[in-house]
Amino acid sequence: MRGLALCRLLRRVSQPASQVLIAIALLTGAAVSAVAGDLEVPDPGLSPAERGYWFLLNRPYFNSDFKEATFDELWTVWEEPVRSEAEKADGTTRRKLALSRYGLMELPARGSNVPLQYVAASNGGWVTNCFSCHGGKVAGRVIPGLPNSHVALENMREDLYRYLEKHGRLDELADSGMPGVPLGGSNGTTNSVIFGIALGSQRDLLLNYVPRKTFPKMLHHDHDAPPWWNVKHKKMLYADGFAPKAHRALMPFLMLPQTGPEKFKAWEPDFKDILAYIESIEAPEYPFSIDRDLAARGQVAFNRVCAECHGTYGEGGEYPERNVDIEEVATDPLRFQALSPLARGGHQISWFGEHGKHKVNQYPAGYVAPPLDGVWASGPYLHNGSVPTLWHLFHADKRPVVWTRSEDGYDPARVGVEVTELADVPAEADLPVERRRYFDTRIPGKSAAGHEFPEQLNEDEKTAVIEYLKTL
Ligand code: HEC
Ligand code: HEC
Repeated sequence: MRGLALCRLLRRVSQPASQVLIAIALLTGAAVSAVAGDLEVPDPGLSPAERGYWFLLNRPYFNSDFKEATFDELWTVWEEPVRSEAEKADGTTRRKLALSRYGLMELPARGSNVPLQYVAASNGGWVTNCFSCHGGKVAGRVIPGLPNSHVALENMREDLYRYLEKHGRLDELADSGMPGVPLGGSNGTTNSVIFGIALGSQRDLLLNYVPRKTFPKMLHHDHDAPPWWNVKHKKMLYADGFAPKAHRALMPFLMLPQTGPEKFKAWEPDFKDILAYIESIEAPEYPFSIDRDLAARGQVAFNRVCAECHGTYGEGGEYPERNVDIEEVATDPLRFQALSPLARGGHQISWFGEHGKHKVNQYPAGYVAPPLDGVWASGPYLHNGSVPTLWHLFHADKRPVVWTRSEDGYDPARVGVEVTELADVPAEADLPVERRRYFDTRIPGKSAAGHEFPEQLNEDEKTAVIEYLKTL
């Protein structure tokens, strides 16, 4: 019944112009049919980290979103002219168009055409996994653990809804437990912090599902996932460093209505391995040329101006994990405000915080200065992904108001994502699917302001520090 009510609600707001975006079953998916039962087990010879990776690629923790055949037909509900383009294209090109539209990518080493962001369940369904947001590509290279700066959950949500509606199959939409929660307003970012709040509000302290009529106050804002290779350096997780690192802290995403406390307990060992995997990941090396002399000069300037917050690197390097006052860092404050002290405390006393065993930082000052390993790869920058390149981060007054990226382009001169800069979103981009290709820094939560610390460097030093950052 809840599913039906949700469908009705969806129908009411499915006009493309509607500002109200309804989260459907993207993270749970349309219930093609339940898949948990897929209990293929990993090879006993694997190490914990290898097992963790295996779980992420092979074990379905949700219901499947859809079958591959549905995915391959989604183009039939695309807008013109892309629909005609897809119609004329051969199968390979059409698949490529679909992957790009939904921010998905194939991992060649997987030896399968299932995108990195999905598990293929035994019933043929595709099930979302953590790589949805935590597996991406840079300069065309697909890297598990790299933030997915292409992720486009709303594009998928809208098309899947239209497709199922067209075929009279809306009953296949499962209940995500998050009605009214937008998934993400621009490609490459998601409202995922709020997913946790929305899902958590429907649970008691023992994780029983207790549906409520209302949700707590939610400050919707889009976030850019952080790279996983930095987790090993941290004691506290997330942008404000509020949650102690522990395997249970990785599990809130599983709080979908169909997942009861017994499943959380059964899956706990998997998440110990998943954490081991995350902590085993190394940052990728910069693939283009580096001017080593310039970088060495940059290191001196970096250690003078940046190291107090970001630490030192190489032999004997130290990471201070400094939590910087929100007024001082002055980047967009919405993420900081979105989690109240009460919500942070709620994590501590809940199952995820082992009922008080893991002490949260209930009153962080602001955002944590992250480690900068592999920073060349993890653009766009800042927690909200608002600044496309390091050069822009170093030139606060030159950061674009609106930008749009290319699919695989990399900008080695400015170090970061290849973008086109604009003063405004083009008028012809009137459909939501088109608007989401533009990152508009004027939208709440998306400001590119703040972090003006590099302004303490002169222009030569800036160039040198950017060169040094390529070596980390
Ligand atoms: C819809 C996108 C999305 C999905 C799916 C997702 N994450 Fe995340 N994850 C994020 C975002 C965004 C953050 C940053 C949140 C913050 O800092 O407040 C994050 C943060 C994290 C962190 C903390 C990293 C750090 O450096 O502090 C870990 C660890 C993590 N996620 C693990 C997982 C695991 C494991 C899964 C699968 C069960 C998962 N995530 C699924 C978006 C996602
Ligand atoms: C007073 C502390 C402080 C100083 C000094 C500082 N930073 Fe930061 N830095 C931060 C914080 C906090 C963040 C996270 C801000 C956010 O995401 O909103 C950050 C974020 C960054 C990021 C973005 C990382 C990412 O993955 O998005 C880069 C790059 C960076 N800093 C480089 C530098 C460099 C280079 C210097 C020196 C010129 C420097 N910072 C000086 C505190 C500092």
